[in-house]
Amino acid sequence: MKNLIVTLAAFAAVAVWGGNRACVAGACAEKACGEDVLKERLPEIFAKAAAHYKALDAAATPLMKNPKMRGGCGTPHGWKGSTGELDMRSIYWWTAGHYPGSLWYLYEATGDVFFKERATAWTEIIAPNSKVSDNHDVGFIMYCSFGNARRILKTDRYDALLLETAASLSKRFNDRLGLIRSWGKIEETKDFLVIPDNMMNLELLEWAAKAKGGDARFDAIARSHSDVTMRNHFRADGGTYHVLNYCQSDGRVQEIRRGQGASCFTAWSRGQSWAIYGYTMMYRETRESRYLDFAKKLADFAIGNPNMPEDGVPFWDYGAPGEERDTSAASIMASGLLELAAFTGGEKGRAYRAFAVKQLLSLASPAYFSEGGEIGHFLLKHGVGHKPGKSEVDAPLDYGDYYFLEALLRVR
Ligand code: GLY
Repeated sequence: MKNLIVTLAAFAAVAVWGGNRACVAGACAEKACGEDVLKERLPEIFAKAAAHYKALDAAATPLMKNPKMRGGCGTPHGWKGSTGELDMRSIYWWTAGHYPGSLWYLYEATGDVFFKERATAWTEIIAPNSKVSDNHDVGFIMYCSFGNARRILKTDRYDALLLETAASLSKRFNDRLGLIRSWGKIEETKDFLVIPDNMMNLELLEWAAKAKGGDARFDAIARSHSDVTMRNHFRADGGTYHVLNYCQSDGRVQEIRRGQGASCFTAWSRGQSWAIYGYTMMYRETRESRYLDFAKKLADFAIGNPNMPEDGVPFWDYGAPGEERDTSAASIMASGLLELAAFTGGEKGRAYRAFAVKQLLSLASPAYFSEGGEIGHFLLKHGVGHKPGKSEVDAPLDYGDYYFLEALLRVR
């Protein structure tokens, strides 16, 4: 019932806020309508996001240092609806780079030096991740934060740290399998677990391969991981598995795990979005047409899915229609699609862009974009972290906000 209400509210809000308005009336091409409406609204959306994040930062800053947390510091990750508390996580948590990254995007969007100062402070506390090789997320953590800092500030002062991170991440590469291990210890021999999320960590490696003092080996690792993943991690229709367990002696997939998805036979929506974004990014970095073709196949699976809701905000799993939506799956997908649209061009490219714009108009509507302190000053309501683990179901997620801001900047 609750989900039905969210669906009806989403439809009504998007219609009122202009997402479908003139297109439904057939007054102009869908792209022109939606995109014009969104572009007109961008200053107001960024102003609202900036106000939210100023309030969030005021609440989070006194909690930054915390001796009880691993690393002695944390960053804001989410919000506990049951107690109304901010959910701070250690600087080693996989999303530690997204909050600083959102601050960098808000600085880019508004030019307000408040965001530059706060982004610098939150970015610099997560520096110890450069030495971490016990997880694959360091690519995300460091490139969303320090990567944006170097790009926006046009500085090379963080390059050594980013190169060190690329070297740490590369320790997880297994030559024999041609893959980076997503989860688990490097020395573990029984399981070798890989998830599609891992595609997102390759952007750091691609940067590190080209950077001054970098190493072409990082590019070889990223390509190898992308190629083996492309071969094994997706069904014929382009839908993703979540967790594959590889046998380290013969390279075969020895087990498929449901992971954060609804089942081994369905596609977990955020995983699908990570893959769309990741293969598009690999095409940008390598210009290998196989990555572009594959990104299109993954995008077509999502866009054409019979269970994709009309407003473009996926249910948390493509095999779980009627259950919770996942706004993070929508924002990651929208950001990836905007880049994919530019590389694709023509009618198909326009269709990808129109779909991303529709998703962003939905996310910017009252059905999904929070008011004031409604969800602890995060932006997007209705994210799903890990439903089978009963964790963060129908909750705000720092990474959902990050890719929402990124996608809006890409539109601008
Ligand atoms: N990378 C973990 C997740 O998307 O939940």
